[in-house]
Amino acid sequence: MTKFLLAIVLIAAAAAPLSAHAGDVAAGQKLALDRSKGNCLACHTIKGGDAPSSVGRKLVDMKRRFPNRADLVEILTDESDRNVIAPMPAFGRNHVLTRDEIEKIIDFLYTL
Ligand code: HEC
Repeated sequence: MTKFLLAIVLIAAAAAPLSAHAGDVAAGQKLALDRSKGNCLACHTIKGGDAPSSVGRKLVDMKRRFPNRADLVEILTDESDRNVIAPMPAFGRNHVLTRDEIEKIIDFLYTL
């Protein structure tokens, strides 16, 4: 019986981050496509977005191109750290996106 309960607890613990993750991907997609938040479509083509743009690169194959999540956090927080003349807004530094919102957008980007 104890073993059975332990198994239930372990399964529940393992499942919890998974369901949170799925919610984060959906929330991240919404933030990325939202014109008053990420507005990434103004400059990037993103699968599922309605207005392809080519100011910045097409956001595809993200996990392979950015295996280090910290790089994406940095790009979304303040791209001018990497490229001083980058036209990409410093979403984090300018408080357009919170750190939590940036993390959700990255969860979404990793599905592209
Ligand atoms: C005003 C235009 C603009 C907006 C809005 C914008 N970006 Fe960018 N972004 C750029 C440009 C231009 C570059 C390339 C220049 C550079 O790397 O410094 C870039 C680079 C990137 C890169 C690195 C791409 C690569 O392949 O090297 C990522 C990732 C990225 N943007 C994600 C986003 C996300 C996610 C959003 C929305 C939250 C966003 N960008 C909004 C213009 C924009």
